[in-house]
Amino acid sequence: MNKKIIFGLLASAALTLSCAQQTKTNGPVYLDNNAPIEERVEDALSRMTVEEKVAMTHAQSKFSSPGVPRLGIPEVWCTDGPHGIRPEVMWDEWEQAAWTNDSSTAFPALTCLAATWNEEMSLLYGQSIGEEARYRNKNILLGPGVNIYRTPYNGRNFEYMGEDPYLSGKMVVPYIKGVQQNAVAVCVKHYALNNNEVNRHTTNVHIDDRTLYEIYLPAFKAAVQEGQAWSIMGSYNLYKGQWNCHNQYMLNDILKGEWGFDGVVVSDWGGVHDTDQSVYNGLDLEYGSWTNGLTMGRSNAYASYFLADAYLEGIKSGKYGTKELDDKCRRILRLIFRTTMSANRPYGRFTCPEHYAAARKIGAEGIVLLKNDGVLPIDVKKVKKVLVVGENAVKMMTVGGGSSSLKVQHEISPLDGLKARLNGIAEVVYERGYVGDASGEYNGVTTGQDLSESRSAAKLIADAVAAAKTADYVIFVGGLNKSAHQDCEDSDRFSYGLPYNQDAVIEALAEANKNLVVVNISGNAVAMPWVDKVPAIVQDWYLGSEAGNSLADVLVGDVNPSGKLPFTFPVAYEDGPLKTVEQYPGVDQGRTGGVEAYDVPIFEMTYSEGVFVGYRWYDTKNIKPLFAFGHGLSYTTFEFGEAKVSKASMTQDGEVTVTVDVKNTGKVAGAEVVQLYIADHEASVERPTKELKGFSKVYLEPGQAAQVSFTIKKDALSFFDAQKHEWVAEKGKFSALVGSASDKILASVDFELK
Ligand code: BGC
Repeated sequence: MNKKIIFGLLASAALTLSCAQQTKTNGPVYLDNNAPIEERVEDALSRMTVEEKVAMTHAQSKFSSPGVPRLGIPEVWCTDGPHGIRPEVMWDEWEQAAWTNDSSTAFPALTCLAATWNEEMSLLYGQSIGEEARYRNKNILLGPGVNIYRTPYNGRNFEYMGEDPYLSGKMVVPYIKGVQQNAVAVCVKHYALNNNEVNRHTTNVHIDDRTLYEIYLPAFKAAVQEGQAWSIMGSYNLYKGQWNCHNQYMLNDILKGEWGFDGVVVSDWGGVHDTDQSVYNGLDLEYGSWTNGLTMGRSNAYASYFLADAYLEGIKSGKYGTKELDDKCRRILRLIFRTTMSANRPYGRFTCPEHYAAARKIGAEGIVLLKNDGVLPIDVKKVKKVLVVGENAVKMMTVGGGSSSLKVQHEISPLDGLKARLNGIAEVVYERGYVGDASGEYNGVTTGQDLSESRSAAKLIADAVAAAKTADYVIFVGGLNKSAHQDCEDSDRFSYGLPYNQDAVIEALAEANKNLVVVNISGNAVAMPWVDKVPAIVQDWYLGSEAGNSLADVLVGDVNPSGKLPFTFPVAYEDGPLKTVEQYPGVDQGRTGGVEAYDVPIFEMTYSEGVFVGYRWYDTKNIKPLFAFGHGLSYTTFEFGEAKVSKASMTQDGEVTVTVDVKNTGKVAGAEVVQLYIADHEASVERPTKELKGFSKVYLEPGQAAQVSFTIKKDALSFFDAQKHEWVAEKGKFSALVGSASDKILASVDFELK
């Protein structure tokens, strides 16, 4: 080593030493931005009194909880989630605070994000919504949601990412990374088994371990281990007789034990029922317990929370130790040092052109072309008159649906989007067709729209049919609408069919005009008894601020559709796996809440269909769906070559690579989602016919080809062995099935696991 280097090293060591000394003499470690987070956590914790610690573990208002004012440690502020930043509410009311600067950007619903099958879209989504949360000074975003789509009746499916654990797991990770780049924590919800809204506070789920680990946990696990989520929300329901906000098995054993989660377990709002269980069973931060009526005679109703006075008194009397309290506070402090007290905290931005562009892009990429007999795209060179029919073409969809409801700066309706795009090209006229829900209010946010209508149902149809006769294209925009029982929190749907007489309107329009396009806006599958009479069907979603622009982009072909269904559309609800009331909506077997504080009837729900959820059910039982999982058409065509495997066999710790060539054989550029499913030829347990284990979205110019490859390792071949409590891949033959939908396998190749 030459002298210069030695001198340099000594000098830099001296500098480091003096910086460290300086930090020490200048102030406490927890305030030192450059100190490792764990040192800051320990230092802060060592300075806190037991009262300050207990205060930190429960809310002080609807959406905030205390920091440590004496030490300059800031409060925690949460916001819904997951599609945009919720407007401000009163301190302890759900009603509006009536701010005039909190109208946000609404991004597409998570069903749409999942339908892009594009991880880049998920990152863009996370970055954008994270910037909005940061700008609004929130450090926990209540989302994303990854509960698996078990039934098309679930009112909250639109907030989740579909029926497949692999797809949800892949799509949730970039969202988390994007949000957390902004020094805003995600709060992944609702952990776990909250797969319906009916009786959501009082459903006790019975499920075997294999199903739990294979279907309902993987997306949460990916969020925690790959996404490194900084917080997670316990769900309202029970599992093994304990509420999930304080559940030994879910929180201590699996989440914190098996997965090593180091973040904060936040309760769902009002999901906490017991102090003992909250102390011991993994809850860290209590929110939303009902304070109504508790204010009488108390200066602070939040002192009545399960983790408030009762906890402090319990510690003082020796009933509880402080080990659990310190663990809760460590986690909350860690979150604060990762967010508000992080040295790398950006500033965020709000309702900016970039966010609207992101919303529009994600929206257009998630739209799924279900059927097209050559009607779409609208031919802008020939079209003279377009008739738009349906309430959903004009109704604001960002208001409603429950806690994800927003107050937006703007929302482009489908009608406005089409009018803007066809301005100067064609006349765009509108007919109502049917009346759905003309009201538009959620927690005091009103749409301000007047959707009142005096015509009878018959007259509405007659007027639409008359107009349809002179139009070049008829675009019917209907579906569900986020009002109670139509894709809405706290209520499930009552039936699988479209509401408000829409089927009759569609049938009448199909007779009146052969160029009919049905656009279904929903977060759930719906029945389509008219499917054979309608030449083009588009699955639209709740697309947020830019809804109409995204839809117009696809309908005229500015964007070539490339979305794929993240869940199956069965022909009829009865085709699905839920056959008994024990499976859904559960039965009251006479037991009550199990903890003193909450003596209510509990509904026992048994997931006896096991792992046979979604396409795993339809495939295995040979039931042809209306539209399959992974289905979605394009304005171009793609050809798949032969599937090739790198080796004929692999070992338990080895891998094989499957490759396939894909070519755009049509006339316009477009994207195809190449999907890899694995089929196990023989197993000691009953396995689904095939399971998604890889996907890749490729953009191709006309005539262009690309090679897509997938690396297959043991995890893609495994099932969860409940007895051994581990993932097991059994020796034998497997098929790699490659296709453009779960029902369109275009290439396959076999290999063996030795
Ligand atoms: C919902 C959560 C939401 C919370 C706060 C609850 O009712 O289940 O998803 O984040 O309220 O609004």
